[in-house]
This record gives sequence, structure tokens and C-alpha cells, in this order.
Amino acid sequence: MTNLDAHQHAEIGERTERRWATVSVIVMIVLASVAAVAGIHQATMPQARVEIIDPTRLHLSGEFVESNLGTAVEPDGAVAVRAIGQQYSFTPSCILVPAATPIMLRATSADVVHGIMIQGTNINTMLVPGYISEQSMRFDKTGDYLMPCQEFCSFGHEGMWGKVRVIDKAEFASRAKNGGRLSCVGE
Ligand code: CUA
Repeated sequence: MTNLDAHQHAEIGERTERRWATVSVIVMIVLASVAAVAGIHQATMPQARVEIIDPTRLHLSGEFVESNLGTAVEPDGAVAVRAIGQQYSFTPSCILVPAATPIMLRATSADVVHGIMIQGTNINTMLVPGYISEQSMRFDKTGDYLMPCQEFCSFGHEGMWGKVRVIDKAEFASRAKNGGRLSCVGE
């Protein structure tokens, strides 16, 4: 290396730099293509499972009749919450769930598109009339969580709020042991 002059040194440096630049551009192109292909694939494939329901008959029969809304302990011990969104409220407006427990939320809309978002969590799903939305959730901390509607559903949208109350697992179990559907409406 000692007999190389400054000019040759600069040339070698430049070549090396160009090579690394090429490598990083290739890495970026590969990553962007992977993300694009995966995203387009996911967006164009139909959902694995779609559940439909007649939004005009929710109150008459089936899973979303009023007496079946709220939190239920299913025969297999799983906790399920069933709820409806309609202009401009959620039913039940206060959802009662146990802490540290896997919970399945099943909800739909009786009229237009609404959204359920639970503040302080990543729980966020759309309620589309005609379809049942399913969302698994789990709360590790007890307390009250606000649940605003997050899809614009006409002029009363800003006033469409619900609440999720997370209580201790043992307390929930004692309230649930008589069966039926639980909620914290009016508490
Ligand atoms: Cu319901 Cu916005």
C-alpha cells in the first residue's frame, strides 16, 4: 500500500463506497417489494371467515336480541361480550369484563357504520351493518376505559360514547355465577 499515491487511495475509497451504496439500495428495494407484495396479497384476499346478519332483524331473534347483549360466560368457560352500535349509542353502554382474561367481543351495527375503539388499548374495530365484527381483547389493569365511536355516523357522532369497566377476576366470577348477561349500565 505504501507505493500507492493519494489519488489511488481516493479511487479505492470511492469504489468501496459505491459498492456499499449499491448494496444498501438493493436491500431497500427488496424490503419495499416484500412489504408491497404482502400488503397487496392481504388486501386482495377475502377474509378467512365472514359472518353476516340481517341488521333489520337484530332485535327480533338470534344472537343480538336485547336479552343476549352484555357479557356472558359461555358453556366452555370463555368470556364473550355481545354489543350493538346504533345512532347514537352502544348497547350495553357500559361493558363489564374481568381483568387478566381473554375476552371475545362480538358486535354489529343496527343502522350505519360505527366503530368501537377502547382508549388506552389497541382495540379498534368497525361495526358494519350486515356483518358481525369479532375482536379478541384482554385487559391487565382494572378500571374504566372510554369507548368512543370512531367512525363518523352522522350529526350525533360526537355524542356516541360507551365505557368498558374492567373488574377483578374473582369479583367478576362471583357476579357471573348466577348466569345471565352482565353489564355495568346504571352502576
Ligand atoms: Cu357511531 Cu360515530
